[in-house]
Amino acid sequence: MQTETTNTAQANFMLTEAEFNLIRTVVYKHCKISLNDDKIALVRARVTKQMRTGGFLSVKDYLDHVLSDHKSAAFIGFIDSISTNLTSFFRENQHFEYLSKVFLPNLMAKKRKAGDTRIMAWSAACSSGEEPYTLAMTLLEAAEQNPGAKCDFRLLATDISTAVLSTARTGVYAAPRMAGVPDRHRSKYFTACTTAAGERAYEVSPELRQIIRFRHLNLMDAWPFSGPFDFIFCRNVMIYFDKQTQQTLVERYWNCLRPGGLLFTGHSESLTGVKHRLTHRRPSVYEKCDL
Ligand SMILES: C[S@@+](CC[C@H](N)C(=O)[O-])C[C@H]1O[C@@H](n2cnc3c(N)ncnc32)[C@H](O)[C@@H]1O
Repeated sequence: MQTETTNTAQANFMLTEAEFNLIRTVVYKHCKISLNDDKIALVRARVTKQMRTGGFLSVKDYLDHVLSDHKSAAFIGFIDSISTNLTSFFRENQHFEYLSKVFLPNLMAKKRKAGDTRIMAWSAACSSGEEPYTLAMTLLEAAEQNPGAKCDFRLLATDISTAVLSTARTGVYAAPRMAGVPDRHRSKYFTACTTAAGERAYEVSPELRQIIRFRHLNLMDAWPFSGPFDFIFCRNVMIYFDKQTQQTLVERYWNCLRPGGLLFTGHSESLTGVKHRLTHRRPSVYEKCDL
């Protein structure tokens, strides 16, 4: 059954229900993103863009090519195109405020007493880097406000999309994307520059970069690290997963949080209906309580 038809100058594009079902099965199997019926227009638009870039004239040719090898650049590009990467600096700012005003000062005091300087965090599904760079600024500011604290920050930032990771590693953001960054932080942690397209932009400082390690990771695969992390940000990605997948993921996070560590989810992602061992501390903040 034909569900969508678009005529373009370059390609007559028809996405049949069977093709849409094939795409959603493959996507679910690979990264557990659930594409509901209402996502057909979005999938069509994204597949069309990929087809045009690759010069394909039919969806069948495109899918045959892309799906034949799950390790190929074409398949990675296809998955990149399906994932939603919306993010911004200081997004859902209450989390960063809670970290800087409450959690980090307490954590630093505890670590100082224990003679431990390392603070480890993970931005899982970091998209184009705004979230981990915001975390890096938050950590550095907290260290400055707690002068006695000697801190060695390690921030892991991962995502399934190679395209967004490349933007994150480049660390150059066009001026409109800097909207959420307070002026004081912008002058302290960024340098003004110009993009190749002549746009006004800002480049992150080496001080921020040196805290963060960007890595490619499908959250559904084995994780080549075990923490323990002091806190994990997994925000605005679980919304794309079904309850069972969320449950498995939250259990895996539990295993690599240190006791007293926190899991942050997106504000619209409550863990209601998900069985877990974390304690709900405040909206979208969950603690692995001391055993
Ligand atoms: C909407 S962005 C959220 C970015 C950031 N955490 C925030 O809240 O602003 C969702 C990100 O999840 C990533 N993603 C989706 N499925 C994933 C998976 N299975 N493993 C790792 N990352 C995934 C996407 O590539 C995308 O960059």
